Amino acid sequence: MRIVLVGPPGAGKGTQAAYLAKNLSIPHISTGDLFRANISQGSNLGKRAQAYMKAGDLVPDELTIAMAKDRWEQPDAAHGFLLDGFPRNVKQAEALDRILKDEGIGLDAVLDLEVPEEEVVKRIAGRRTCRNDSSHTFHVEYKKPKVDGVCDECGGELYQRDDDSEETVRRRLEVYHRETEPIIDYYRDQDLLITIPALGPVSEVTQRAMDALRERN
Ligand code: AP5
Ligand code: ZN
Repeated sequence: MRIVLVGPPGAGKGTQAAYLAKNLSIPHISTGDLFRANISQGSNLGKRAQAYMKAGDLVPDELTIAMAKDRWEQPDAAHGFLLDGFPRNVKQAEALDRILKDEGIGLDAVLDLEVPEEEVVKRIAGRRTCRNDSSHTFHVEYKKPKVDGVCDECGGELYQRDDDSEETVRRRLEVYHRETEPIIDYYRDQDLLITIPALGPVSEVTQRAMDALRERN
């Protein structure tokens, strides 16, 4: 299956993607995680992306599309993938369509995680992220690590992401409404959109998404 996961910052895309990818045996491809890995490695791509991310702005499309394409063309994604955080504007969505079409494949579904804005602000404020791997995320209230400040999965140090400050979160939400929300209509028009109410326990949200995907196929 080839799936795209959309939703505002802090909606729980990364959290859900980890479970969904495991259940569906497909790789989880997060452009945010790929950029953060590049930043911690000090690569040229990381250096170019860093300032945009810190400000809460989108990284330029050329860089993002090339990086995402490179990842989904790896052998482990040959039979499907779950894209998290990409596409993030109509230009990226059109590029994705075009590239997949050239490869003779297409998307199966787009899951839109629906969460009220006051909840995403709470989720982001309490999020703690692992320094070794930004796909390892916790929450001070909703998903506490076993040992304070330490990642359950790899023992790495937990910290608050640079772009999780109140000011940058406001900017990210603004960018989401302006740039990313239009892709919801874009995918609705293609009959690919599935809206998932994403309030409630993590496992219940995963179940809703799995049920919706099953119903569709
Ligand atoms: P990215 O890393 O994609 O950030 P985002 O979209 O803002 O999403 P988040 O990672 O903040 O949140 P999430 O929805 O994954 O939530 P999570 O599961 O962690 O992008 C960062 C930046 O990179 C962008 O601003 C941009 O600069 C750049 N970028 C990335 N992709 C790009 C692209 N395509 N084009 C251009 N630029 C791009 O959950 C949040 C918290 O809530 C966690 O603490 C979690 O434990 C908790 N939680 C999750 N689910 C629940 C639940 N059901 N109940 C209670 N708590 C929950
Ligand atoms: Zn970790």
